[in-house]
Amino acid sequence: MRSAASRKISGSGLPRGTSAATMLLLLQARAEGLGACWMAGPTVARRDIAELIGIREPWRMLGAVALGWPDEAPNATPRRALEKIATWFEGGSK
Ligand SMILES: Cc1cc2nc3c(=O)[nH]c(=O)nc-3n(C[C@H](O)[C@H](O)[C@H](O)COP(=O)(O)O)c2cc1C
Repeated sequence: MRSAASRKISGSGLPRGTSAATMLLLLQARAEGLGACWMAGPTVARRDIAELIGIREPWRMLGAVALGWPDEAPNATPRRALEKIATWFEGGSK
């Protein structure tokens, strides 16, 4: 049963939980030398894909992960500086 506090958080937890699980899958793939790409694009064909691979209620497709042994080693793409995407709060209230 969900608490009153958790009910205040809008929407289903499904996308959050699925996103967390997907990130762990990507990290593990990397650790094992696999290449992977998280894709939302294939959901445009979610009905056909559900039919093809047998996804049935209550399950539904939120995305897809392409996974395989890489045959190339592309250079890492640039990343924004950490201070541009994160704010650190120190101390907190007492
Ligand atoms: C929720 C989500 C959906 C995505 N959907 C697609 C997609 O449909 N097609 C695609 O090529 N990349 C998609 N991406 C991007 C790739 O998964 C990946 O994050 C991106 O290619 C990272 O490239 P980089 O490591 O070179 O920055 C998606 C990423 C996220 C987080």
